[in-house]
Amino acid sequence: MRLDAHYTDPTLVSRYDAENSGRDDTDFYVALADELQARTVVDVGCGTGVLAAELVDASRDAAPGSEPTSSDRTVVGVDPAAAMLDVARSRTGGQQVTWLEGTADAALDHLGPGSADLVLMTGHVAQVFLTDDDWSQVLATAAALLASGGHLAFETRDPERRTWTRWTPELTRERSTDPDGTVSTGWVEVTAVHDGLVTFDGHTVLEDGVDRVSTSTLRFRSRSEVEASLDAAGFDVAWTYGDWDRSPVGPQTSELIMVARRR
Ligand SMILES: C[S@@+](CC[C@H](N)C(=O)[O-])C[C@H]1O[C@@H](n2cnc3c(N)ncnc32)[C@H](O)[C@@H]1O
Repeated sequence: MRLDAHYTDPTLVSRYDAENSGRDDTDFYVALADELQARTVVDVGCGTGVLAAELVDASRDAAPGSEPTSSDRTVVGVDPAAAMLDVARSRTGGQQVTWLEGTADAALDHLGPGSADLVLMTGHVAQVFLTDDDWSQVLATAAALLASGGHLAFETRDPERRTWTRWTPELTRERSTDPDGTVSTGWVEVTAVHDGLVTFDGHTVLEDGVDRVSTSTLRFRSRSEVEASLDAAGFDVAWTYGDWDRSPVGPQTSELIMVARRR
């Protein structure tokens, strides 16, 4: 499996959390897991494990001043990028998560069929599955992991908003200082758009002056394509939101946040 340098180059991986801090999606998915009373959760493409660790953070439920007990939730984080998992394993709370190197199939092998209440794909992981076959395959594995009535939740960028037209060096160039004091400049440049696939280079220049380039391709599926693929995999769409505050999909929103129930 070919993985983007962003997930394999230790220098870029070490900057992932700083670059992706302050995300509203984490609160959304944690609240969803609580509302669904999900006891066993699988995070497919868990990356550096921010969400998975948050899902087992028992201190969220502890009464003020009391000692948090261990979480009664089982969380499995699975990702094919070893360098991302290295960060996940060492984060606070990471010891309470089962980390697996691999694809969703590794979680199915580990947990067995029908064992999960909730399967998640966050950080636009749904868009890394470029072909219809790869997408159908991961949906089939999610369906196999879930018992009837279990849920699959993920987000994908709405192609109607054409977000990639704003991924230009001029609009994305940013100079930032990490918590460890490292100064960097980063920008994004789209190099190809065809057949629902958008290819772009992510540039990162650190103090050594080296331009580290990570090339990615993402698949943009329409709402109707996603709905049809979920139906074919045995899911009913329970909710679709356009933003993390649960607003409906509309001209002001750019996400398709889907929560589907296994039939
Ligand atoms: C943008 S990151 C998202 C990470 C994390 N979910 C988050 O929200 O920060 C995409 C992740 O998908 C993983 N990935 C790539 N191909 C995958 C596949 N076939 N199955 C599962 N995960 C995959 C990458 O290794 C990377 O960690």
